[in-house]
Amino acid sequence: MLTIDLRGKVILVTGGGTGLGRAMTETFVKCGAQVVICGRRQEVLEKTASEIGPAVHPIPCDVRSYESVEAMMQRIMAQLGRLDAVVNNAAGNFLAASETLSPKGFRAVVDIVLMGTFHTSRWAGAYWIENSLPGHILNIVTTYTETGCAFVLPSAAAKAGVQALTLSLAYEWAPYNIRVNAIAPGPFPTEGAWSRLMPGQDFEKIYLQRLPTKRYGRPEELGALAAFLLSDLAPYLTGAVIPIDGAEHLQGAMFNYLAQVADRETLKAAFAAMRDATHRS
Ligand code: HXC
Ligand code: NAP
Repeated sequence: MLTIDLRGKVILVTGGGTGLGRAMTETFVKCGAQVVICGRRQEVLEKTASEIGPAVHPIPCDVRSYESVEAMMQRIMAQLGRLDAVVNNAAGNFLAASETLSPKGFRAVVDIVLMGTFHTSRWAGAYWIENSLPGHILNIVTTYTETGCAFVLPSAAAKAGVQALTLSLAYEWAPYNIRVNAIAPGPFPTEGAWSRLMPGQDFEKIYLQRLPTKRYGRPEELGALAAFLLSDLAPYLTGAVIPIDGAEHLQGAMFNYLAQVADRETLKAAFAAMRDATHRS
């Protein structure tokens, strides 16, 4: 039987107190890892750690500040003695018409998502290289990093930056045995995301109907993918950006709309009629 074994590993999950970060933390712990979770709200981190168990270590840290990240990393070294992987999951996002955005609002998201990812990656990469240790950086991006996305301009810009960081570092640090990958989740209805990004039930109904699988992602599905990527089962996997979205990001392809406007039997009958009309045997 093949199992995902993370025993002996110390993994840092930024934003690990809530939502998808918490779900990944739960999976990593089930696979045997020690997990450090960070975020700005100490009480949220402590509650999560006490609910999951003693393998979870809460350390408050604001990833926007390099000094705060450095202090957290020193604490990890003092308390746990090692760091094997960093999951850059902390993020900010909200819906806004771009012409109404203030510079401070734009910066609020870019500082968490892009600067935060740089801060942890910079510290961990230098540590692994100086000490000749292998390492892994796993960045949580989105499926709109290639296309951009209306009404979430700061997030689209920042996540595209994180994707570029992922691909740049994967190549640059491959000789040091540091892997750098990204997961691009589709819709997972967490409290943090849905309270800021889902305008109401009417919108949700339309959105769900549009999804090719007609369902949202389940946090444990993301947790399993992340655990696999961080494990010793994937040593040759680096520089990858892996969508986990039930194929939602493919809906722009020219004829994919047909699947949304008619049921399969109706489509097959229409295709057969077109074939009869055009095919010469
Ligand atoms: C317009 C907004 C705003 C909003 C804040 N601002 N919310 N502008 N619409 N809804 C503006 C403020 O007016 C202010 O600018 C500036 O942003 C900073 O606001 P603060 O509240 O002081 O910022 P801060 O405390 O740093 O909070 C950051 C935050 C907040 C991003 C705004 O929402 C947050 O803490 N989020 C963390 C959790 C989160 O967002 N989770 C969702 C991730 S889901 P002015 O100029 O007025 O002073 C995700 C999913 C992606 O990323 C894909 C989905 C499918
Ligand atoms: P979430 O629960 O709101 O998670 C965001 C986390 O980031 C929170 O724990 C928050 O904790 C932390 N955070 C925010 N600012 C921080 C800072 N400055 N320093 C440290 N931590 C900070 O949302 P989620 O849905 O689980 O999102 C997790 C990740 O998945 C994000 O990267 C998001 O972009 C990505 N994603 C989610 C979806 C989705 O559908 N849910 C889709 C695509 C991508 P504090 O507020 O306590 O700091």
